[in-house]
Amino acid sequence: MNNVKIAGIGAYLPSLVVTNDRISELVETNDEWIVQRTGVSERRISEGENTSDIATKAAKIALERAGVDAKDLELIIVATISPDMFIPSAACLVQSNLDADKAACFDISVACSGFVYALEIAKGLMNSMNYKNALVVGAEVLSKVTDWTDRGTCILFGDGGGAAVLKQSETKGIIKSYLRADGKKGNALTIGGPDIDTPFSKEKILKDKYIKMNGREVFKFAVGAIEEAVNEVIKDTNISLEEIKYIVPHQANSRIIELAAAKLNLNIDKFYINLDKVANTSSATVPIALNEMYEKGLLKKGDKIILVAFGGGLTYGSTLLEW
Ligand code: ACO
Repeated sequence: MNNVKIAGIGAYLPSLVVTNDRISELVETNDEWIVQRTGVSERRISEGENTSDIATKAAKIALERAGVDAKDLELIIVATISPDMFIPSAACLVQSNLDADKAACFDISVACSGFVYALEIAKGLMNSMNYKNALVVGAEVLSKVTDWTDRGTCILFGDGGGAAVLKQSETKGIIKSYLRADGKKGNALTIGGPDIDTPFSKEKILKDKYIKMNGREVFKFAVGAIEEAVNEVIKDTNISLEEIKYIVPHQANSRIIELAAAKLNLNIDKFYINLDKVANTSSATVPIALNEMYEKGLLKKGDKIILVAFGGGLTYGSTLLEW
């Protein structure tokens, strides 16, 4: 098995900042409640850019930093639950935007765990197909699937994208992943698909078009999922939690991260948290956070990092990597 590492990281956020006060003009809520219960102060919201536009902008930065010409890309995976359309996939739209004509392209639907799943899928394909590089993107325009009359959900989400360019490498890179799901709990967080209403359907089955969530159930699941995924990804690696420089968690709610840190007996400072300004961008939170850490100069060669995510499905997973 060849080593695969992140050679370049990039992110893009729409320019419109929507504060909690602005949301309180839409639904019965207030800044204090949202900050206390979630940690979110503001989020970026698309004014028309779609998921593939955001993904392309993040990808261009990651390609530049990795020193990879889009024409040489061999694989593009976009993790998203808010693609522009069913067909073409967001990955094919990104390929076209980048003129990355040689790449195999597909999307994956793993909700907020999408970027973590996609890293391991890309690593596997780079090995089995002998690809020298891959582009992995997490990008979302969640505002188009948000019910802006539901105060239980519309306060939580934001739009944005993050991208990583992977290369085969001499040094370690992605060391191990842990990927799991609990489909039986899927109803806790849903976005409906098309209705079943055809000349042949026995009855009309009408689907909800927006995010529906049982917040308390997702909360409970998330704390346990982070604890399990962090412990499992270092198991049998000879790497201890003390040696981990940063844990980069899915940015859903600061209380979830604080509780998980306490369960793992870890100082909260080990967790990189940026949800106050970015909110929950589903598959994009982890690469957006990684990009922010890169731009602040926090990531040093040889640092051991755990990425950990949970989300719709319900899905969860983690990646242990050496920067
Ligand atoms: N503003 C003011 N009051 C509110 C709001 C709001 N925006 N939303 C709910 N309330 C009220 C409720 O009506 C309720 O009032 P009641 O007691 O009179 O009935 C009270 O606040 C408490 O509501 P809860 O839903 O119990 O509040 P909770 O503390 O559980 O916080 C939250 C809700 C923030 C959604 C929390 O459950 C949570 O973060 N869950 C996890 C969500 C998550 O991580 N989702 C995404 C993961 S997957 C993905 O990213 C796609």
